[in-house]
Amino acid sequence: ATIPKASAEHFAPSNIALCKYWGKRDSELNLPVNASLSVSLDTLGSRTRVEPIEAASDEVWLNGVRQVSDSRFARRVSGFIDLFRIRHPELAFRVDTHNNIPTAAGLASSASGFGALTKALVDAFGLGLTATEQSIIARLGSGSACRSLFDGFVEWQMGVREDGLDSHAVALEQTWPGLSIGLIKVDESEKSVDSRAGMQRTKETAHLYQSWPLQAASDLSRLQQAIETRDFALLGSVAEQNALSMHATMIASWPPLLYWQPGSVAAMQKVWRLRAEGLAVYFTMDAGPNLKMLFESASAAALEAHFPGMEIVQPFGV
Ligand code: PMV
Repeated sequence: ATIPKASAEHFAPSNIALCKYWGKRDSELNLPVNASLSVSLDTLGSRTRVEPIEAASDEVWLNGVRQVSDSRFARRVSGFIDLFRIRHPELAFRVDTHNNIPTAAGLASSASGFGALTKALVDAFGLGLTATEQSIIARLGSGSACRSLFDGFVEWQMGVREDGLDSHAVALEQTWPGLSIGLIKVDESEKSVDSRAGMQRTKETAHLYQSWPLQAASDLSRLQQAIETRDFALLGSVAEQNALSMHATMIASWPPLLYWQPGSVAAMQKVWRLRAEGLAVYFTMDAGPNLKMLFESASAAALEAHFPGMEIVQPFGV
């Protein structure tokens, strides 16, 4: 059953963490130091097609552009396919990924990309795996990709096993119509320190990092409570504090790791000012300079006046 039956094409959504994954306890298997919680971005994400080809090596395409085979992206994709062709190393594939995440949003696409690639390879190899099993495999491509196997609110349970077989995402049942995520682009150029290197540096050099697992555990349970009771102020404030706590550990690393740019700080200060004026808006940020605004649809019009051109996603509808 390890010979691919055919080509296959699948979609996986991008996701935004409200309680971040930051730090690995095993960097080969992408086993996290802490559990995390995200919301998937509905129809924004990656569509990936895999097709067996007669060739000596893989062909990797991204948004219609062939990637040189020794590029970082192509090597990561081929390395991930290696997990599937262990018994048939001679197999080669054409991998064609399209991200419909607006490039202007400055959103990372590795989570949706490895999510979609996992689904497509599992299908092409006829493996018939459950979503939980696919989440475990996607995690090996990029940690946060394990959450992109599910829609809505998703929790990545860190697990305790050394082999990682209990470290996967689960979908939470709750929905939240009107919950909105606004994507604010500050800068979309490629970051100089990727999340893998950033996590490693933080864990190895920042004493402040020791407090991170406690912060994350407390935030996770408060977010679960916020989702259960649909308490937006709780959801937003915990998400914002969680993101800033993660960034504090990065800044306390050596050499220092500051993903913010002047535009990031200006946007944060604008959010704080708007909140002081009574608008219920919070933000979260990942390992980059861009902000993701959290608000409810009733606040959308007021917020858009302050952030013109902001892309808005409503994962659970209006
Ligand atoms: O999945 P990775 O290795 O790209 O790490 C993602 C890290 C953050 O985006 C900063 C946080 C998260 O949980 O998505």
